[in-house]
Amino acid sequence: MPAEVPIALLPGDGIGPEVIRESVKVLQAAARTSGFLVAFTELPIGGAAIEARGVPFPEETLRGCQAASAVLLGAVGGPAWDHLPGPARPEAGLLQMRRALGVFANLRPVRVLPALVEFSPLRAEVAAPTDLLIVRELIGGVYFGQPRGRTTDGAVDTMRYTAGEIARVARVACSLARQRRGKVTSVDKANVLETSRLWRETVDAVAREFPDVTVEHMLVDTCALQLVRTPGQFDVIVTENMFGDILSDEAGAITGSIGMLPSASLGDRPPFLYEPVHGSAPTLAGRGVANPVGAILSVALLVRHSLGHVEASRAIEMAVEQVLADGVRPRDLGGQASTVEIGDRVAEKVIRMALSRSHDATMLRAGHLPKET
Ligand code: NAD
Ligand code: IPM
Ligand code: MN
Repeated sequence: MPAEVPIALLPGDGIGPEVIRESVKVLQAAARTSGFLVAFTELPIGGAAIEARGVPFPEETLRGCQAASAVLLGAVGGPAWDHLPGPARPEAGLLQMRRALGVFANLRPVRVLPALVEFSPLRAEVAAPTDLLIVRELIGGVYFGQPRGRTTDGAVDTMRYTAGEIARVARVACSLARQRRGKVTSVDKANVLETSRLWRETVDAVAREFPDVTVEHMLVDTCALQLVRTPGQFDVIVTENMFGDILSDEAGAITGSIGMLPSASLGDRPPFLYEPVHGSAPTLAGRGVANPVGAILSVALLVRHSLGHVEASRAIEMAVEQVLADGVRPRDLGGQASTVEIGDRVAEKVIRMALSRSHDATMLRAGHLPKET
């Protein structure tokens, strides 16, 4: 029997628990059909942790994450906690966790699926070629820089980067570009910000380690424009924390819904963190209408990057594509399918695909099918 892989589950707030439930269903289907075992430990974070433990990122959650091979998170935040001061908010819990796990490279792949091209707000011929990967620096920049807080008559946030923090995320972007179309667009605001001038110099130095990768620079305001004008021009985009946050929501809209986008956050050592890009969508919570695809595709990334099962990961992605192509669509993509129905259909498809693979293998062994050449 293979050993069970421990996974920390942090459903969080709003639609978080609903989309996580469906993604777990799909992960279990993938595990059953690909011969690995997973064991889940559920832990509180965000508003749910504030209610249960009085803080947004309890010590027990940190320890539970550290003991796991991977962490799967739903979303945090909501109107109930919006009155709290910054460090006490649910979102602060998420930021503390990312930092504690050291997950500096946040991968946000963005593809317009052929079956969904009509749901993009962009014209079909502009939207269809979209296949890009945003690599967002996740544990530095203005989200974390000191000093921060209130002054007597104002407020201060500080954007800080070291060359080391920039170089390590740039290396991740260049390595991933090698497995894709070999192009990196580094996005900054070097015409205004000193951190961006350091960013550009450091990315250029890293680029010299990757002579087979084309590295270009683009200002963030131009990038925002180019993303909706010709998204197909981008392969890998690498950028600092806040620019990456904003550009990934914009890129999400191109796919038809932010509910479609998954993410993987990687560091130097496991556990790595997987979460959909969307938030807790408070107005949808508890209604069974949230799109679970971002969470399900996050599980596909977990299976690939933390468990090393590339085929099982691909099977989940293909199952999602086929279910959507079959016309099973959530509300945000003009359909009627519930959160649970989408999870059920994707899990069922993962199992059917595995059955047909093993049927083909049996037929092949029995000499009933021609060998593929
Ligand atoms: P949001 O992503 O929750 O919602 C933006 C819009 O997209 C809303 O119209 C929402 O209904 C829709 N949407 C989002 N996810 C969807 C899904 N899976 N299916 C269908 N529609 C979906 O962003 P927001 O409204 O700006 O933020 C709400 C709360 O979530 C805030 O407290 C915010 O801080 C928090 N938030 C958390 C995360 C996270 O935990 N990673 C990310 C973003 C926002
Ligand atoms: C995201 C979210 C978070 C971020 C918030 C909730 C702290 O918007 O994951 O994109 O800004 O990183
Ligand atoms: Mn965001």
